[in-house]
Amino acid sequence: MEKNFKRTLVTTALPYANGPVHIGHLAGVYVPADIYTRYLRLKGEDVVMIGGSDEHGVPITLKAKAEGITPQDVVDRYHNIIKKSFEDFGISFDIYSRTSSEIHSKTASDFFRKLYDKGEFIEKTTLQYYDEEAKQFLADRYITGTCPHCKNERAYGDQCEACGTSLNATDLINPKSAISGSEPVLKETRHWYLPLDKWEPFLRQWILEEHKEWRPNVYGQCKSWLDMGLQPRAVSRDLDWGVPVPVEGAEGKVLYVWFDAPIGYISNTKELLPDTWELYWKDKDTKLVHFIGKDNIVFHCIVFPAMLKAEGSYILPENVPSNEFLNLEGDKISTSRNWAVWLHEYLADFPGKQDVLRYVLTANAPETKDNDFTWKDFQARNNNELVAILGNFINRALVLTHKYFEGKVPACRELTEYDEETLKEFTGVKAEMENYLEHYRFRDALKEAMNLARIGNKYLADTEPWKLAKTDMARVGTILNLSLQISANLAIAFEPFLPFSAAKLRSLLGMNHCNWNILGSTDILPVGLQLKEPELLFEKIEDSAVEAQIQKLQETKKANEIKNHQTTPVKENVEFDDFLKLDIRVGKVLECQKVPKADKLLQFKIDDGLGGRTIVSGIAKHYTPEELIGKEVCFVANLAPRKLKGIESQGMILSAEDAGGKLIVIQPAADVTPGSEVK
Ligand code: MF3
Ligand code: ZN
Repeated sequence: MEKNFKRTLVTTALPYANGPVHIGHLAGVYVPADIYTRYLRLKGEDVVMIGGSDEHGVPITLKAKAEGITPQDVVDRYHNIIKKSFEDFGISFDIYSRTSSEIHSKTASDFFRKLYDKGEFIEKTTLQYYDEEAKQFLADRYITGTCPHCKNERAYGDQCEACGTSLNATDLINPKSAISGSEPVLKETRHWYLPLDKWEPFLRQWILEEHKEWRPNVYGQCKSWLDMGLQPRAVSRDLDWGVPVPVEGAEGKVLYVWFDAPIGYISNTKELLPDTWELYWKDKDTKLVHFIGKDNIVFHCIVFPAMLKAEGSYILPENVPSNEFLNLEGDKISTSRNWAVWLHEYLADFPGKQDVLRYVLTANAPETKDNDFTWKDFQARNNNELVAILGNFINRALVLTHKYFEGKVPACRELTEYDEETLKEFTGVKAEMENYLEHYRFRDALKEAMNLARIGNKYLADTEPWKLAKTDMARVGTILNLSLQISANLAIAFEPFLPFSAAKLRSLLGMNHCNWNILGSTDILPVGLQLKEPELLFEKIEDSAVEAQIQKLQETKKANEIKNHQTTPVKENVEFDDFLKLDIRVGKVLECQKVPKADKLLQFKIDDGLGGRTIVSGIAKHYTPEELIGKEVCFVANLAPRKLKGIESQGMILSAEDAGGKLIVIQPAADVTPGSEVK
């Protein structure tokens, strides 16, 4: 089943150039892609890693407008910041370019034109909301209004975040433009659509039958999209920022950002390899791997492959190892709420500690489920793993060699049974790591590498060479030789994960070569080789340093709280009689469970004093069912029933949002009888 490829093309999602990058980006995409690429390079394979900034799209134009500068100014600023952050963290792109480049514009334009000429698009004229004040058509996301299902007044044109329903902008009651606040009007516009439905049978076969090995989160998301049935998707927009649609009469229209951005992978490869880029994109012996975050799955597994297939001459991805999300201290990372650890700020606070962050983000990578980054965990992993295991072992091996052998690699003489056992244990590490790395299981691969350091640490602790120095120098030499060979192995095993520390270690050990294929050997360092003076690879992180970070986040929370209170205006007055129409009651949660295939919804069985009722509520992101079972809650008892994911919801559970955006259910201050009215 597993194919042999001649070369690998690694792509990494192009981050939007409308803000700096944070730990979520690094953990989700760039560190895993970098580990994979460094590993293949170390094996001597032909591999190219492509990156770049995604510089089109509506948010960039709005940011420019808000600041009174041009979109190009915005992307110039952030492209440079992002590029620098990646360099600082050792993300080893072969090229990091951008989609506002000329070569990209031409490549994307030609790609569109080829599909157009082949008749792969359908053209449709539809009615779309237009903001007459801002003089522009509005993307669904930029229209807000009342949700027709739950009456939430702050629903977006593409989705109501209160009840989780996905919407069309025209479904909203009282639509308002998020740009000018005015009421948008419907206006005719003409666009090009890629008929994804045409590719559905192909995609079903290719993904569901031929790529069952994809990660369950990726495969599952694809399956649910395919099972819902694919629709034609518009690939152009009315906007003045982007790649112009290369068709006569298409003035004022550009390619949709999600059409041009993935083509950026191709443009950037072209820019890097003007003569041989086609080998990487069109030869079936190339393994194409897309590293992305989970919000990008549909575009990389369904839309982009359909585009490539429609074009006809390109290969398709062999795998799309998408990660889930990384949360920060229990809350979703959010740029607008400044709830993030920005890479440039991290480096200012922890200079030289790139590898520590790379380590923590890999050890705790959200490979199979969302995960949480906490500063306490960051500190613990640094102090208990990097310092106490890896750093400690290497330092002891080096210090002892300097103490007893003037820093020269001593000879390895007779091996004891225990030495043999240790060696056996450590030669297995290479195969284990390879198996994990080839299958994109970077956490497990890292664990194996750390295990190697554990083996070394235990070996030194058990053999206690410092006690033998008076009596048996030959034995001490053997022990240190083996310890140094293990250290050299660590310099190779950790290179994909901790490139800065691995390089430093190689320099301390005088290793001028580093090659994956010698991992597991016990003669990497020749006898007599002079080692450098020992230097610590890692240092302890003190409580005060992480407390300062936690403090900083708390201040963000406070600032958000103030902002939230300022920005939610009180609604219009209502008459007392209108208030009386609302029937709010206390109920006790008897049962609670997740609604399958809806990541926001919980289904409740409530004791309402009237024989019980079912309520579906969009708070699954904020509570586990266990947290609520047995608790009393307040609910609207006379809300007209409505169906959510096929379940009839008979009411609505009340909650309030805290500063971090978490919903907190409203509970009576003491237990009251279920069914009591709230007045
Ligand atoms: N800019 C997008 C995001 O941050 C990712 C684009 S990936 C590409 O979600 F394939 F389109 F380039
Ligand atoms: Zn709603």
